[in-house]
Amino acid sequence: MNSKKTEWTAKWIRPKETMGDACPVFSKTWQQEKTPESAVLYLTSLGVYEACINGNRVGDYVLAPGWTVYEKRLQYQEYDVTGLIREGENEIQITLGKGWYASPMPGWVEKEKQRKKERKTGILGELILSADGASNGRVIATDQTWKVSQGPVRFSEIYDGESFDATFVSDKEEEVCEFSWPIETLIPQQGEQIREMERVCAREIIHTPAGEWVVDFGQNITGYVEFTVDAHEGEQIKILHGEILGKDGNFYNENYRSAKAEINYVCREGKQTWHPRLTFFGFRYLKLAEFPEEPKAEQFTAIAVYSDMKRTGFIRTAHEGINQLFSNVLWGQKGNFLDVPTDCPQRDERLGWTGDAQTFTKVASYNFDVERFFRKWLRDLAADQLESGSVPQVVPNFLPDCRESAAWGDAATVCPWQMYMTYGNTSDLAEQFESMKKWVDFITQSTTTKCLWTGGEHFGDWLGLDSPPGSYRGASREDFIATAFYAHSTHLVVKAGRALGRDMSGYEELFQEIRKAFQKEYPEYLTQTEHVIAVWFELTEDSQKTADALAEMIVKDGTQIRTGFVGTPYILHVLSNYGHTDLAYTLLLREKYPSWLYPISKGATTIWEHWDGIMADGSLWSSDMNSFNHYSYGSVADWLYEEAAGIKPVEEAPGFAKARITPRPDKRLGWIDVSLSTRHGQIRSAWRYVGDSVRFEITTPVESEIVIGDRRETVMPGTYTYWG
Ligand code: BGC
Repeated sequence: MNSKKTEWTAKWIRPKETMGDACPVFSKTWQQEKTPESAVLYLTSLGVYEACINGNRVGDYVLAPGWTVYEKRLQYQEYDVTGLIREGENEIQITLGKGWYASPMPGWVEKEKQRKKERKTGILGELILSADGASNGRVIATDQTWKVSQGPVRFSEIYDGESFDATFVSDKEEEVCEFSWPIETLIPQQGEQIREMERVCAREIIHTPAGEWVVDFGQNITGYVEFTVDAHEGEQIKILHGEILGKDGNFYNENYRSAKAEINYVCREGKQTWHPRLTFFGFRYLKLAEFPEEPKAEQFTAIAVYSDMKRTGFIRTAHEGINQLFSNVLWGQKGNFLDVPTDCPQRDERLGWTGDAQTFTKVASYNFDVERFFRKWLRDLAADQLESGSVPQVVPNFLPDCRESAAWGDAATVCPWQMYMTYGNTSDLAEQFESMKKWVDFITQSTTTKCLWTGGEHFGDWLGLDSPPGSYRGASREDFIATAFYAHSTHLVVKAGRALGRDMSGYEELFQEIRKAFQKEYPEYLTQTEHVIAVWFELTEDSQKTADALAEMIVKDGTQIRTGFVGTPYILHVLSNYGHTDLAYTLLLREKYPSWLYPISKGATTIWEHWDGIMADGSLWSSDMNSFNHYSYGSVADWLYEEAAGIKPVEEAPGFAKARITPRPDKRLGWIDVSLSTRHGQIRSAWRYVGDSVRFEITTPVESEIVIGDRRETVMPGTYTYWG
């Protein structure tokens, strides 16, 4: 990472007079006697920017400077722009959109309050030009000598979309004014850069029963569309975004709620290609509400925009449904790892919900290298954590207050610990350690009953299928979940402290006391989720007995899951770790509702928020909370890595410095082939049924314990074949 730039000659600037909805374009021209040996641009903004020098785009960062807790941590980017500077006159232009900073987020709060959040956007940047032989070099820094004009982007905002007028000619340069915003809070780029990562061609153009033109990309993505059109000046294009088609085959996007998510474009004369630049959408379908000609598929490409994470995990099986499920998990991650782990990318939320991130963090860290991504977000979590230790429900906290919930605030402990398990980076763990402890201390201090967590307000087992009618919260007791997570977080703090060489006896004792209090308070478990977390968090007196009872309950419930956000990530792990692998596979491979495969029978290409987002008869769960790109239940794929293929980190040798490989074959899956790139090399675990026998093939770059059935052995790096 580049070292932090502490000296800035630049001043924060914004237009002196408001420009309404139009996106300002700041500019500065200067003379260059000769081309410089080097030119470096440092740039940031309140809002999102796109910079050009002499008409050429600077870098390929989309939605820079990204999303952080702006008041406390604002990233700036550093670009080598040597190649863009020429002899003679030069011009830098910076277009500024509202971005996350100034969009009315979240929709249901801001819109109710008639958009009271009038945050003014601005930029800060300096271009450092080295000596060019004729001069001693110089700094072109934002200050009041810059000019600003309205640009062709007439409107841009995160939820409502973007309007662009290709005929627009700015006739007026206006003054800028300087304003103050702390320089000390600026930090160099810390997360992954956001980029245009993939292009998806339109699959077909549908003429719907309602007589509308709808473009189908065949994949739900996050990003924007690029279109090419041959038009006359002044012709209009209006595009709406949607994730599914309604029951009747018509365009549908009521589930976006107040987010308009629309593109309005005024054409210039002739052939033109365009895409939005300062916003993003979650979509599979586009409704061409206005379009100057009969559309053809080749005119549309969807560009997937997300954090530039390196892919590390690969899963293939003989089962097409499971392959599609894994693809949906990957797309869910791509679509919701746009700088911050969000709940969904389409409706008027797109927020860093801590609970969602917590459920998905393990599989996220196997699918892609998310060490930098989470490093940045967890620093934001710590920055937004209150003095009391309370962790907001969303990070960056865009909600009007800071309220905590069990299983949401626990992102403070679960995510850093998972990053440590997957990547083994002690300094990151050390960096988060205070925040982890503060969260546990907060619970200790705020609970109304010692060693239990009572008296809080929680989301419970969010969206559990056993929710009482009319409720989103599953039937599991909220204080039960809260206490279980209190114990779990305390346990993780103990483990983290030990890994950092600290004396953790106080927290160890606390963990044991919570455990005892839990056992006393909750002698029996009422729901699937209650069984699951009692076992998985090591709270029950007899784990085997509880796991057996869970298996029995699942069968009684019709051999189907009833769990929500809290129980779902661990249910298959509990089953397979206590002798019920067969049942775990039965749940995984179930196709009827409710199941992971059911949405695939309805054409899902990402993970749904609800088990029944689209019901068997084609009707919809609701329009008020029905996202079709909500990764939480995609956590099931961590079971494919850790149990089906059996690749697990070893707690004492984090980051896969050693591995434990315990594949669990099942004939119904046929074969599986999984590879995981770790900090110590690539681990591969594959098995295949040959008749009634199973052939295992394992390649490991590190000392590993391999367990196949009753056979257990420790092996050195190499490739091993077994029959079972
Ligand atoms: C979000 C969730 C989130 C929840 C909190 C919803 O609106 O989309 O995923 O965790 O609120 O209960």
